[in-house]
Amino acid sequence: MNKINTLVISTLFISFLGMTSIASANDPVTTKEKGREAIILTEKERHAVLTEMRGFLESVQTIVVGLSKNDWESTSKAARKSGMVEQTGMPKSLGKKLPKAFKILGQKTHKAFDQLALDIKDMEDKQQALEQLGSLMKNCVSCHALFKFETEK
Ligand code: HEC
Repeated sequence: MNKINTLVISTLFISFLGMTSIASANDPVTTKEKGREAIILTEKERHAVLTEMRGFLESVQTIVVGLSKNDWESTSKAARKSGMVEQTGMPKSLGKKLPKAFKILGQKTHKAFDQLALDIKDMEDKQQALEQLGSLMKNCVSCHALFKFETEK
């Protein structure tokens, strides 16, 4: 085999490896192409969950601003706000309607916010906090790629 052939073959092999790793890294996109699973809720239930979602977004925003100022107190508070405590006001009827995968991802997200709140106070480490925030936000991305809400007709 001459040099050019070896080069072509190894380039093809490397791009093949690249493609397979991109495919697995982008799993949610594949799911999205197939369509997100619709969770059917009443208007009231949907309102409750979407309010929770906007709370998540608000926490993320406050955390990013707080970290930029090394304001550990407000950052920790903002994380705590989206912790497990945030779930307490949810309509009971949601329990039966939300798929298991949704509940697991939701719990993981609340718990990660609680952990972030603790770690920010303990460590006062911006780099660490940003890593944890980035990692917990994978839950936002995955869940949004898997599910959507629709209301009962
Ligand atoms: C367990 C699943 C799940 C997790 C985790 C999750 N979301 Fe959501 N979120 C949803 C679903 C489903 C919708 C509705 C999407 C639709 O119907 O198109 C939504 C909607 C939203 C909305 C729109 C709210 C509105 O009023 O329309 C925002 C903002 C949002 N999410 C932010 C976040 C952020 C930020 C995180 C992570 C910190 C997050 N979500 C984590 C499932 C999730």
